[in-house]
Amino acid sequence: MASKLAPVFLRRAARPACRAPRSQFRAFTAGSSRRSETLAVHRNTPDNNPEIPFKFSAQNEEVIAQILKRYPPQYKKAAVMPLLDLGQRQHGFTSISVMNEVARILEMPPTRVYEVASFYTMYNRTPVGKFHVQACTTTPCQLGGCGSDAIVKAIKEHLGIKQGETTPDGLFTFIEVECLGACVNAPMIQINDDYYEDLTPETTKKLLTALKESVTSPGAKVPKPGPQTGRDTCENSAGQTSLTSEPWGIETTRSDL
Ligand code: FES
Repeated sequence: MASKLAPVFLRRAARPACRAPRSQFRAFTAGSSRRSETLAVHRNTPDNNPEIPFKFSAQNEEVIAQILKRYPPQYKKAAVMPLLDLGQRQHGFTSISVMNEVARILEMPPTRVYEVASFYTMYNRTPVGKFHVQACTTTPCQLGGCGSDAIVKAIKEHLGIKQGETTPDGLFTFIEVECLGACVNAPMIQINDDYYEDLTPETTKKLLTALKESVTSPGAKVPKPGPQTGRDTCENSAGQTSLTSEPWGIETTRSDL
């Protein structure tokens, strides 16, 4: 109403000010942006560029044929994840050539394959060591047992590398990861496909030493995957404390039988 009562020339004078571009500056400072090029961007390197040929082995071609049978032909791109995994296992990591070959087989635009491979962290898009050591540092592992900080420290000290690095002999790559779903056996690490749980700095170092020896002296004993404290799985290490009485028989709950 007030604007209707205002003289026309005053309203006109106000318009340019309203239309002036808004300031691009923010009034408050924000935290520094977290860049993630390492996760999303590919840069050609001598050991990872599209000129390096990659073909699946004859054995893996058969596996691919089996995988593709699970999907209607028009939806075969749904097999992108198992094929990328197969390529990584054959080649050692998910190189750009592996991704391109998967795109060719599944008749997908290569960029769609890149999107999948760069989203899921289990696809290693750069070479990793023979033993890919992934230490869980999420809260339950951080608090359970001796805590993941002690495990991470032990790994770094023993291997002499930092997070994201590979030992000069190419045997070990170490990274920190989020929850691996074995929180009840915290702290734990994953090495390649195996979980090692209920760890202490000592058992961690012993495990890494044994893995190294298994390469230099084939046949050397390596600790069994799973809990390293003698537990079988995730049973209470203090013994059973509940449900200790005899289970009710069927006659207790069904008087009619
Ligand atoms: S928090 Fe480490 S496995 Fe879940």
